[in-house]
Amino acid sequence: MPGDGIGPEVITQALKVVTSITQKYGHQWEIEKALIGACAIDATGDPFPDASLSACNSADAILLGAIGDPKYDNDPSALVRPEQGLLRMRKSLGLYANIRPVKIYPQLVHLSVFKPEVLRNVDFVIYRELTGGIYFGEKIKEATYSSDLCIYHRYEVERITHLAFRQAMLRRKKLTLVDKANVLETSRLWRSVVREIGTSYPEVELDYMFIDNAAMQVILNPSRFDVVLCDNLFGDILSDEASVLSGSMGLLPSASKGEATALYEPIHGSYPQAAGKDIANPMATILSVEMMLRDFGYISEANDIIRAVDDCIAESFLTEDLHPAVSRKCSEVGDRVAALIR
Ligand code: IPM
Ligand code: MG
Repeated sequence: MPGDGIGPEVITQALKVVTSITQKYGHQWEIEKALIGACAIDATGDPFPDASLSACNSADAILLGAIGDPKYDNDPSALVRPEQGLLRMRKSLGLYANIRPVKIYPQLVHLSVFKPEVLRNVDFVIYRELTGGIYFGEKIKEATYSSDLCIYHRYEVERITHLAFRQAMLRRKKLTLVDKANVLETSRLWRSVVREIGTSYPEVELDYMFIDNAAMQVILNPSRFDVVLCDNLFGDILSDEASVLSGSMGLLPSASKGEATALYEPIHGSYPQAAGKDIANPMATILSVEMMLRDFGYISEANDIIRAVDDCIAESFLTEDLHPAVSRKCSEVGDRVAALIR
């Protein structure tokens, strides 16, 4: 699902990588394209048409570029919006866990606005709840007021909490729940459910942090985090913030998992100002393919992608967002990563 803005360009690069992997390992893929977002509204009037839903349901995995178009952003009266397509897709596919790893590339530390000592040993992953909370609660729009309900059921907290603890067991065995339990009832539910489930994972060190403090700690002391568990809205905000640590949003992939088919997508948006200019960073989408292959159990294939991306970065073969001395085009970076894999 290439989607909008730079989506189609970054997906084209990711598919070059898929082709390289296919040639090298002799896999066969059936790739089907489907519409989502503003392009789907233009074509069908619906940001997530039924044909797209059935394509998703019959797939083994979904790779998405990005959605969004400025013509909707500044029009609060628009009834149909590209984002509705993404939210409906997440909900109808039951994609309740959004996994956003934050990784630092040592070769890029000198380009960062952060001091090298802040970035040392930074390696954490955000587990963001994706199908509940304020995104999906009842919405009211009246003449003189509006409201968005934030609602969480125990089971919604439980299922992602188990995934997060299991991930912590495979990592440094630390889990931080980020919430606003000093103010919000839903956060207090999260705390009690997470504390309860934590007793089944005694090896994992569990701590709690308020979102306002966490927003500070992510830039002051990011190496303290291992697995960060958040509700939908806090995870949305914190993951954009955390992406700055790596040097560019254009480097961070994500996976969304749940009841059936998983979805892989870059964390960045559709960057409409760059659409068609061949300047977007395709790495986040390429690394989303890496996450997909790893989940399929194709470990050497996934490792090939990691190595190729690392080499490309070491060569400073980079798009302009990373401010290299010589900036490369989106398509050149795609070609380079694909070549390095071959
Ligand atoms: C994200 C995006 C989406 C979200 C938008 C496009 C609806 O910001 O995936 O983080 O808020 O979930
Ligand atoms: Mg976001």
